[in-house]
Amino acid sequence: MTDYSAIKANAKKMWATFAAFETVTGLAAPELVKFAGVQKGDYVVDVGCGTGVVAITAAQVGAKVTASDLTPELIARAKENSMISGFEIEFQIADVEQLPYDNDKFDFVLSQFGHMFAPRADIAISEMLRVLKPGGVIAFSTWPPELLTGRLFILTAKYGAQPPTGISSPVDWGKIEVIKNRLGEKVKHVTFHRAQYGNPAMSPAHMRILLERYIGPVSAVVKKLQIEDPSKLTLFRGEMDVLLGEYFENNAVIQSYLMTRAIKL
Ligand SMILES: C[S@@+](CC[C@H](N)C(=O)[O-])C[C@H]1O[C@@H](n2cnc3c(N)ncnc32)[C@H](O)[C@@H]1O
Repeated sequence: MTDYSAIKANAKKMWATFAAFETVTGLAAPELVKFAGVQKGDYVVDVGCGTGVVAITAAQVGAKVTASDLTPELIARAKENSMISGFEIEFQIADVEQLPYDNDKFDFVLSQFGHMFAPRADIAISEMLRVLKPGGVIAFSTWPPELLTGRLFILTAKYGAQPPTGISSPVDWGKIEVIKNRLGEKVKHVTFHRAQYGNPAMSPAHMRILLERYIGPVSAVVKKLQIEDPSKLTLFRGEMDVLLGEYFENNAVIQSYLMTRAIKL
């Protein structure tokens, strides 16, 4: 039987170093807040909030914001970020599969590259829709499998440990048909939009080193191969450099993603 609490404990450790990327996901946050249509006075929750980039951006437009994430280190950083920026946002440690909010509470439920990492996609989406008011908006950003970050996750999975059974693949959240199915009959007016941001790096190898250091799923594969099979690590690094090179221009790696928006019935 799949041990989901062990999976969550591992996820917490894996994401603990993600703060290094907050300035780049911070570039995507205004796109999601605009695409969702958040306005002054709206009640917004950001789930899988990381260091709070979407939460803080929603607060900038005058929304009343609550946010949560599984990883304590990121929530600590989110609290610091909201204090620095002068916004009062309630941050909590919480699993998107078990949100600590009442039914029908929020006008907007947002997630930027967050809920896609929950191991049980069906539970995550039903929790997000549960806390959304009827007529409210769910909007999220995800990485499709055919674009850079999705391809990186697929490459990482190829070299990494076999995932336990019963785990949803994060990149399935980047497939339009899968998203429509998961949102199902509980929503109307499902719309999609693609956007991109540039991740500053002096070369593809510079970007790879950042990923190895700060993106937990990549760090885990590097550690595993360093011990088990250093020649395979060389192959993994080589494949990453080639892939990153495809998206490298003007000293940045271009990361494109998909945004989804729907209204709860
Ligand atoms: C790629 S980061 C994105 C963080 C942030 N939303 C941003 O855009 O910078 C993925 C986030 O998902 C969180 N996460 C992973 N599994 C989760 C779960 N089951 N419940 C809540 N958050 C989760 C991680 O802790 C991490 O903060």
